Amino acid sequence: MPQHVAIIMDGNGRWAQQRNKHRTFGHKAGVEAVRASVRFARSQGIKSLTLFAFSSENWQRPKEEVSVLMDLFGMVLKSEVKKLHKNDIRLNVIGDISGFDEKLQHKISDAELLTRDNKALTLNIAANYGGRWDIVNAAKALTRDVLAGKMDISEITEQSLDTNISTHGLPELDLLIRTGGDHRVSNFLLWQCAYAEFYFTETLWPDFSEQTFAAAVEDFSLRQRRFGLTGEQIMTQDVEHKAC
Ligand code: FPP
Repeated sequence: MPQHVAIIMDGNGRWAQQRNKHRTFGHKAGVEAVRASVRFARSQGIKSLTLFAFSSENWQRPKEEVSVLMDLFGMVLKSEVKKLHKNDIRLNVIGDISGFDEKLQHKISDAELLTRDNKALTLNIAANYGGRWDIVNAAKALTRDVLAGKMDISEITEQSLDTNISTHGLPELDLLIRTGGDHRVSNFLLWQCAYAEFYFTETLWPDFSEQTFAAAVEDFSLRQRRFGLTGEQIMTQDVEHKAC
């Protein structure tokens, strides 16, 4: 079972257009698929689920669509946070939330505060998020420490940079799922993808269900993850591990 799964929820607009509806109808329908994926992750003991809700580039969409997405985000936060809390789920928003209006920023921090000690699952919502932003942010934090004399430049390592990445403290990303048929990463979790397995499905996000999630996890469980080693080295490690 993967410990950390991330999902690029793509295909809402096409799902709506196939039904002769406005794109925003697809975003609203996508909320039910968010619920299904959280339910599945929680029931399977996945420790961390990261959903790409709004990218730094999504601001360039038509004004009306951006406004519906913001309202939806606020409404979902309000309606779901108690349920998340009851189910021992921690809500964590990653991204540059200073880009949102103050009311939404408050809703985010209230939800994070209420759920911060929950342990069963961490639900990360990537909002106004970009993978390059994440790395630049971490680089800035280290630069600040070097300039303030708190650390030496030789202490800039993969580990120290990682401590300033938005998902620090969560399990390593195991599986990245993208719905909607495209095969790209779209500036999501670039740092975290280093050794992640990718799963692409044609399913449009509003049709994503616990069954689709289960199929992705099943596919993941059949992969041999080598982390740069050879297949033989991995097999030997497995045998030694089982013998212990
Ligand atoms: C991509 O589909 C989807 C988004 C940009 C928004 C995702 C938002 C939700 C699922 C609803 C709210 C979620 C939360 C966590 C509150 P697209 O519009 O790019 O689809 P297309 O490729 O068919 O045009």
